[in-house]
Amino acid sequence: MDSAESNQVVELADQEGIFERVKQENLSLGKHEFEFNNHIYIGYPTVYSPFLFSGSFYTAQNFPYPVGGTFLEIGTGCGLTVLEAAFKGCKKAVGTDISEDSIANSKENLTRFESQLEDGQVEFYISDIFSAIPKGEKFNAIFWNFPCQLGSQPHDEMEMLDRAFKDPGYILLRRYLQEIKDYLEVGGNGYFCWHPAVANNELFKKVIAETNVELVEKLLIPGPHDLNAILYMIK
Ligand SMILES: C[S@@+](CC[C@H](N)C(=O)[O-])C[C@H]1O[C@@H](n2cnc3c(N)ncnc32)[C@H](O)[C@@H]1O
Repeated sequence: MDSAESNQVVELADQEGIFERVKQENLSLGKHEFEFNNHIYIGYPTVYSPFLFSGSFYTAQNFPYPVGGTFLEIGTGCGLTVLEAAFKGCKKAVGTDISEDSIANSKENLTRFESQLEDGQVEFYISDIFSAIPKGEKFNAIFWNFPCQLGSQPHDEMEMLDRAFKDPGYILLRRYLQEIKDYLEVGGNGYFCWHPAVANNELFKKVIAETNVELVEKLLIPGPHDLNAILYMIK
């Protein structure tokens, strides 16, 4: 094994270590409630929780929502960012997630706040990235708080909560960057959130180069334990 390979092994081991700790913390929350902007949300233990990962609150508060327009979040988790998009004035806000528990959690939150929203203003779908979004439906802004640890197991062998953190080979990142243009309105903007401290940044740069996109840093998102994230806009 050369030194580059052994560095990769160490990096992977470190990421797995971080991952196991945060996953157990998330599971140990059980069903829990948290408050954001005067709304009391419910979080499920098997769904990535903003209560633990406070960067999601910062993003929901500071995201450049297309007020009066349409917003799509991939990987919505408990639905916080989508619901906040609607509260902040998006006429339509849609969330997708690969995890059935995430969509059940998001729909339970929607039920809590339905009386404050227009009929059909917010929708949630189980979906593999864009698979549940009808061809031809377009949005003014699309966002994904990306699972940017590499991990080692194939996607279909992972538990759903693992998929909130890991994208082996950055296969999903590649798909997101390639498919997003088919779902953006003319003049619309695509975004994603990246956590450099737990990511493989060499492979990240390679995927960015190979998918021919340019990234603009829009926001630095403070996270717990100094694990800051970056909100990128895709050019
Ligand atoms: C880092 S979590 C973000 C959760 C939430 N948006 C937040 O910021 O609190 C990533 C989310 O992506 C979802 N996800 C993973 N793979 C996916 C896929 N192929 N299609 C849609 N969502 C996916 C996970 O289930 C998880 O909810």
